[in-house]
Amino acid sequence: MENVVKFGRINNKNGENNKMSKVLVTSALPYINGVPHLGHMVGCLLPSDIYARYMRMMGNEVLYIAGTDEHGTTSEVGALKEDMNIQDYCDMYHQRHVQTYKDFNLSFDYFGRTSSEQNKEMTYHIFEQLDKNGFIEERAIKQVYSVDDKMFLADRYITGTCPYCGYEKARGDQCENCTKVLEPTDLINPKSSVSGSTNLEVRETKHLFLNLPKLESKLADWVKTKEPFWPDVAYTIAQKWLKEGLQARCITRDLKWGFPVNKEGFEDKVFYVWFDAPIGYIGITKQWADENPAERNWKDWWLNASNVRHVEFMGKDNVPYHSITFPATLLGTAENWTQVDYLKGMSYLTYEGGKFSKSEKRGIFAEDAIKEFPADYWRYWLMSNAPEGSDSSFSFDSFAAVVNKDLNGVLGNFVSRVLKMTASKIGEKIPEGAELTTTEQDLIKNLQIKINDYFKYMNAMEFRKAMNELRAIWVEGNNYISVTEPWTVIKTDKVRAETILRVCINLIRIFAILAAPIMPSVSEDIFKRLGLTANDMPILKDFDVEKEIKMLKAGKSFEIGDALFERITPERIEELKQQYGSKE
Ligand code: 2FM
Ligand code: ZN
Repeated sequence: MENVVKFGRINNKNGENNKMSKVLVTSALPYINGVPHLGHMVGCLLPSDIYARYMRMMGNEVLYIAGTDEHGTTSEVGALKEDMNIQDYCDMYHQRHVQTYKDFNLSFDYFGRTSSEQNKEMTYHIFEQLDKNGFIEERAIKQVYSVDDKMFLADRYITGTCPYCGYEKARGDQCENCTKVLEPTDLINPKSSVSGSTNLEVRETKHLFLNLPKLESKLADWVKTKEPFWPDVAYTIAQKWLKEGLQARCITRDLKWGFPVNKEGFEDKVFYVWFDAPIGYIGITKQWADENPAERNWKDWWLNASNVRHVEFMGKDNVPYHSITFPATLLGTAENWTQVDYLKGMSYLTYEGGKFSKSEKRGIFAEDAIKEFPADYWRYWLMSNAPEGSDSSFSFDSFAAVVNKDLNGVLGNFVSRVLKMTASKIGEKIPEGAELTTTEQDLIKNLQIKINDYFKYMNAMEFRKAMNELRAIWVEGNNYISVTEPWTVIKTDKVRAETILRVCINLIRIFAILAAPIMPSVSEDIFKRLGLTANDMPILKDFDVEKEIKMLKAGKSFEIGDALFERITPERIEELKQQYGSKE
């Protein structure tokens, strides 16, 4: 395998790795309000899970962390709309997130909350360090107050036209069209998105700012060291920001829900949600460690942890915060925090070409998706169509086509055909047969090339390409059985037919192993049919087809089981379109 791509661009062009062995994987922390749709799933949660699973299978020590992002007006308004106490509201939604991710088989080591005591402690500490080092300053600012809503509006609750690109639905914190970070007062024709009211006043209040300009040169030096490692998109975004010059960012708000500011004169304010949210990666790690302090230490992952490689997954709108604001925050503490080594920024998934919208009942949300089909169907479709580079669109036609063609037609068909044929011609056990021939040697060679490519793309987090390879690996199995025709051979040479079927059953095992990070339940199901358990899962590092294809020995029994996948009929597709809203 080529060295350069061993860990994505974490290895530079000379194949040198900047860090080794322990892999810290984080997914952007989903906002607590509302429930995730497929776009959220594929934007950071699912790819981070697949990467974490894959890294574990490669034999690395992995810590995979995420949690709900709970503070800010988003939650205050959400609770208000549902007529709930905010704490109850967050508790309830946190549970819904937890359940959904469990249903989607996300393998977090810990899924915590940014509102936790541990995160408060971490936020206070980081703030104190920044303050001590002179990176915090007081400023009187003008903030938008909604007279009708009787509250200061959080930036994202003010919408209007972006002054840079003219996008009409820009939010007061950021334009999701051109990704520029905004102040609400930058917006043209602003209105409250709580009530739609335009009766907004600008009032003066005193706040704390993170002096990013003062951190700029230190940050620029740090970013420069990432050039050989970060993907181009992230590096370019960071450079663009630095080139434009950084502005001080207000890190406090006049709200109730959040961590009260630990500085005299500011106790009635709370930290801005984007200040404590990324600190949440650390705070949540401490939640994890506190549950088992004898065995776990959060500092091993975050402070002076030179052997940790930190890989972050996020939607592309989150890249500036993770490549500029948060790294600058950590640099300002003058402590040796683990910084991001690799950022995977995903584009957006649309629904039948438009936006997912709960209120307009458009799009399938994760909680409903799981009621319609098993998680692995979604995981497979989403990663095969991952919005990498450019946006991609979900449609039920495409979903059904992929399930029917790839999962049923290629993988499912191979598994059931091989097991049924073996059972009927020989019995429900691995046949004996004889030595492998040149046909099998060619198969092994081809598979090894494809499997190396699959690993190469998984290491590089190029998921679509990885999925193409996975499919191509399954196709090799189908080609092999078509060419060797065991059903014909058996009439004249039973031993040869047995050899072919023994190889095919071993291929089924290999397919299940390789599919495990993407479709963990299907993989487990196949293993069970072959009489294997999770303990029989090999480490993927140095995966040798020549050796693996001989792993299942003659005489071991298997079960045929039911069809691995359900076919989706045209009638079902129509029903789903009706139910979840479609353009047609
Ligand atoms: O965009 C979002 O969903 C944010 N809640 C992501 C926060 S990521 C991290 F900084 F917490
Ligand atoms: Zn814009």
